[in-house]
Amino acid sequence: MMANHPVIGWESEGPVPEGHQFNTYLQARHGRLHLHDLDLASLFTQESPAGQVLPSPLEVVYLPLIRRQITTMNQMFADVIEEVGYDGRFYYTYASKANAAEEVIRTTLGAGAHHEMSSTVDVDIVQIMIRRGLLPPDRLIVCNGFKTAGSQYAANILQLRQLHQNLIPVIEDMGELSPLLTSGHPFAVGLRMKSYGHHASETEMRTANSRFGLSLDDIWKAADYIATAPNLKLVMYHNMVGSQITDPEAFVNWLKPGIEVYARLRQRHSSLHIFNFGGGMPAAMTLDFHFDYHDFGRRLLRALQETCRRYNVPTPDVMGEYGRYTTSEHGAHLFSVITAKENGSKLPWYIIDGSIMSSFPDSWALGEHFIVLPLNHLDKPFQQVQLGGITCDSDDVYPPKPSQSPLYLPVETDGLMLGFFSVGAYQEMLGGVRGSKHCVLPEAYELVVDRVDDAYQFQILHGQTPDDVLRNLGY
Ligand SMILES: Cc1ncc(COP(=O)(O)O)c(C=O)c1O
Repeated sequence: MMANHPVIGWESEGPVPEGHQFNTYLQARHGRLHLHDLDLASLFTQESPAGQVLPSPLEVVYLPLIRRQITTMNQMFADVIEEVGYDGRFYYTYASKANAAEEVIRTTLGAGAHHEMSSTVDVDIVQIMIRRGLLPPDRLIVCNGFKTAGSQYAANILQLRQLHQNLIPVIEDMGELSPLLTSGHPFAVGLRMKSYGHHASETEMRTANSRFGLSLDDIWKAADYIATAPNLKLVMYHNMVGSQITDPEAFVNWLKPGIEVYARLRQRHSSLHIFNFGGGMPAAMTLDFHFDYHDFGRRLLRALQETCRRYNVPTPDVMGEYGRYTTSEHGAHLFSVITAKENGSKLPWYIIDGSIMSSFPDSWALGEHFIVLPLNHLDKPFQQVQLGGITCDSDDVYPPKPSQSPLYLPVETDGLMLGFFSVGAYQEMLGGVRGSKHCVLPEAYELVVDRVDDAYQFQILHGQTPDDVLRNLGY
């Protein structure tokens, strides 16, 4: 039976049965939680497979899950392209804003993803990857975000063009065209439509209150301007409609007015050949998540076929910019329960050795849910509890305040450890890396895990020392 709330963990007072599979990568074995074959609690003991006893709290970055996401989506599109007889290819593009850490970008590129960026330092990251030979010439780099004339971002894009030909700046604002035009370099360009939100028609799109993209009138003007520019070529139409849309039919319906605009633009501008639906692909952040990606792909390609047939234009290549979908599941954050106190509350408080609100800002800011499971004592009785971070902040709690989701953890708290899972997208970028955090808590150690030829590889990144924190703050 479907729960009427997001399922964030084990929902029973009974122990977890041996071998229980919580989702595609978390399993109970001998009372301990395993991420694939990795016994997470063992990282904090002498038996640590990482070669040393690691301190709590600990961030875990599990790279094989990034590769799996990219491979699965590429395969899904290959299947539906064949199934519906689609004439066009699919570009999986990683939206780096979800997590710009070096090991993440290295992994997405290694798995064959194209690359999307949104600001000037992204260009520096890409240049590093090109110099290291990790971003080959055949990969597309899509430059989204505001890149106004005179900005560092605009200048950096012009420079990047000298290093990499497969570069597509996407015009977000009319003023962004002139630096490209006057550069004299040949540029393939995209146009971003003002399409964020649900619009039943082009008329509704016109009235949308969004700072992203060009109005319909400006799309036409910009396309004509590009057509007359000797060094510019229109290749992409960008039509992002939202974030985490969990119904495939609704998602494609939201895209339909934009597909209509694409086909009409294509009638007039024959160089146009990529339909980019941007981000928004939902990802598993709770245990009840279900989204039929196949159904989405099939519906999208059929809608493109149907519309392009009506306008008598070829079907486009399709691009998606996958941020959350790529990186959500590869990130976990492990904590120790340092004390349990009743305090006259309806549910006991379990206090962890870190901050929930600064580690997962979306939880307190947006009421977002993530998975929480114990790392040990899974074979013992559970009880419903509430979690508190170690800061003095009344919002540093989980489940988030408006939530209806119960949280069950083992009654036995001696040596109890737990993990937050599916926290790899946006949380670290929003919370900041190596800054000074709420209640001056030092940043945790990080363990980067990879698996090569069936053997685990570990890289340990040191956390902040008290001296690091003090220096940050000017002491
Ligand atoms: C232009 C653009 N592309 C892609 C993304 C990534 O979206 P998601 O994380 O939903 O995949 C975003 C997110 O804000 C975006 O603004």
